[in-house]
Amino acid sequence: MTLELLEGHPVHRLASRYYDRDLRIQPVRHDPLYASTLLRSPTHPPLAVGETIADLSGPVFGHLKPGPLDNDLIGNFASGGLALGERIIIHGTVQDQNGRPVPETLIEIWQANAGGRYRHVRDGYLAPLDPNFSGCGRCLTDRDGRYTFKTIRPGPYPFKNGGCAWRPSHIHFSVFGATFTQRLVTQAYFEGDPLIPLCPIANTIKDPRALRTLVATLDMSAAIEFDALAYRFDIVLRGRHATFFENRTEGV
Ligand SMILES: [Fe+2]
Repeated sequence: MTLELLEGHPVHRLASRYYDRDLRIQPVRHDPLYASTLLRSPTHPPLAVGETIADLSGPVFGHLKPGPLDNDLIGNFASGGLALGERIIIHGTVQDQNGRPVPETLIEIWQANAGGRYRHVRDGYLAPLDPNFSGCGRCLTDRDGRYTFKTIRPGPYPFKNGGCAWRPSHIHFSVFGATFTQRLVTQAYFEGDPLIPLCPIANTIKDPRALRTLVATLDMSAAIEFDALAYRFDIVLRGRHATFFENRTEGV
């Protein structure tokens, strides 16, 4: 996927200028400190695959309006109880390269539970599953490009990287464009987490300023009294303040 993902959106047809991604500060594909990249990273330049009519006219989101609990991960899998852990709000805006809000964009998130365990068949970490927590949610941005999720702060978890490697607490974010074929994926970390500078995955982004764009900041103005702390995570699709996505520009 490329960052042209929202070109088909009516708002973006008004864009006056295209901003190339600055590849000097994108995550590196092949990083000896992140062991999985040694085998997984491509050895040939990526090929650009143009979008087809079928891609652009394929499934759209109008038929899939999120339900009232889709952005409430504390409640959307609850069965006889609520999810365990530190209750938080994570919210922000999606903006285009010129600071304009991007409305009605589908955001999906997925995350580990409070113990650092994903509800996924391939997650064998010894922390227990939470019977009331799926770790998945979605919502559409509103007319001002705002989104909000209520969830549990995910726990850190270890991963195989040689030695004692741990992921900081993080939430995976996917931002869709006008169709399912237009998608960007990134991760939100949490302000003050001492594991961020130690994480070889986070540190595939070599520029500290770029990495800071992936750190959600504590936002007490959005906290809910006797309920939840709040963190703010704004997403910028392109331009000088762009959020750093896991995807790379293709064909270059
Ligand atoms: Fe993860």
